[in-house]
Amino acid sequence: MDEKKVMLSGIQPSGDLHLGNYLGAIKNWVERTEEFDNYYFMADMHTITVRQTPADLRRRTLEQLALYIACGLDPEKNTLFIQSHVPQHAELGWVLQCYTMFGELSRMTQFKDKSAKHQDNINAGLFAYPSLMAADILLYQPDFIPVGEDQKQHCELTRDIAQRFNHVYGDVFKIPEPYIPKTGARVMSLNAPDSKMSKSIPEGCIFMMEKPEDIQRKFKRAITDSDSENCVRFDPATKPGVANLMSIYAAITGKSYPEIEAEFAGCGYGKFKPAVGDAVVECLRPIREEATRILADKAYLENVYKTGAEKASYVANKTLRKVYKKIGFVAR
Ligand code: TYM
Repeated sequence: MDEKKVMLSGIQPSGDLHLGNYLGAIKNWVERTEEFDNYYFMADMHTITVRQTPADLRRRTLEQLALYIACGLDPEKNTLFIQSHVPQHAELGWVLQCYTMFGELSRMTQFKDKSAKHQDNINAGLFAYPSLMAADILLYQPDFIPVGEDQKQHCELTRDIAQRFNHVYGDVFKIPEPYIPKTGARVMSLNAPDSKMSKSIPEGCIFMMEKPEDIQRKFKRAITDSDSENCVRFDPATKPGVANLMSIYAAITGKSYPEIEAEFAGCGYGKFKPAVGDAVVECLRPIREEATRILADKAYLENVYKTGAEKASYVANKTLRKVYKKIGFVAR
């Protein structure tokens, strides 16, 4: 039998999970769970590049795991783990820093954005972050990295680092490809459709554990467009707010843009916005309920992340040993 291809991805528990994380990443993971050998983790080591409150970080890491499972990632079929529980990430991260160029790191959009936002704390970790992300990925020799569009640049740098390393030492790393969904890859803020949806603009952000009435309120207040057309038509250049709502609706219902235009022809935004809100509420309701149930069972969660870390460590260690041998470290 052919070996299954490998998928791997992670999310930082630096904020509560939101609709962008779901549509850009998790939904895509869940849809491919049978086809691939899957590794999904909570990227807690990445979060400390920005100051975190320890108790919140702990709570969000476990909540994120509960949400992964509630979204449909069965721990029997997916290796689910906490990044800091698998020390090979830090170890390979250091090695790969030595194969990543200063110029490459300086060009990363996420570094530029975050260093502008946190001017009092532009630390070395924030700068070297993509080398750790490359280690997260390359340890598991994946074929695909399912991410939203904003992570494409980091995935491309990972490929460059892997190719540079392979060029010196032979075929150590598989060269992975980013795997970006057709709809939902870049969900924009509901009240600022020129910025991506993120926890930093809470009024424009739908959190996965949020109450239905709060979700509906945010959709009703969503910015549509400044023209007076009041017509549901997909035109990102002139109607970015409407296009964003349409892409959310498309990603959740599977409908095409012409189908959505036909469905809301003559209705105006007054009907369209709450309809998108309803679709989101109904999509998130079972996930929220299941995550709440799972979160109450701390022993179960502990078992999942401990088993996950063991499985992940086993695989990660094989790659790390190979790397250490190639670069000339004496075997332990
Ligand atoms: P992070 O934690 O910012 O985001 C997690 C995932 O959610 C996607 N995403 C979005 N997709 C669509 N629209 C949005 N508004 C939106 N906001 C976030 C991201 O593209 C991502 O897929 N560096 C990574 C975490 C990471 C990682 C890895 C990912 C660490 N190591 C190894 C893949 C493989 C990050 O900061 O994503």
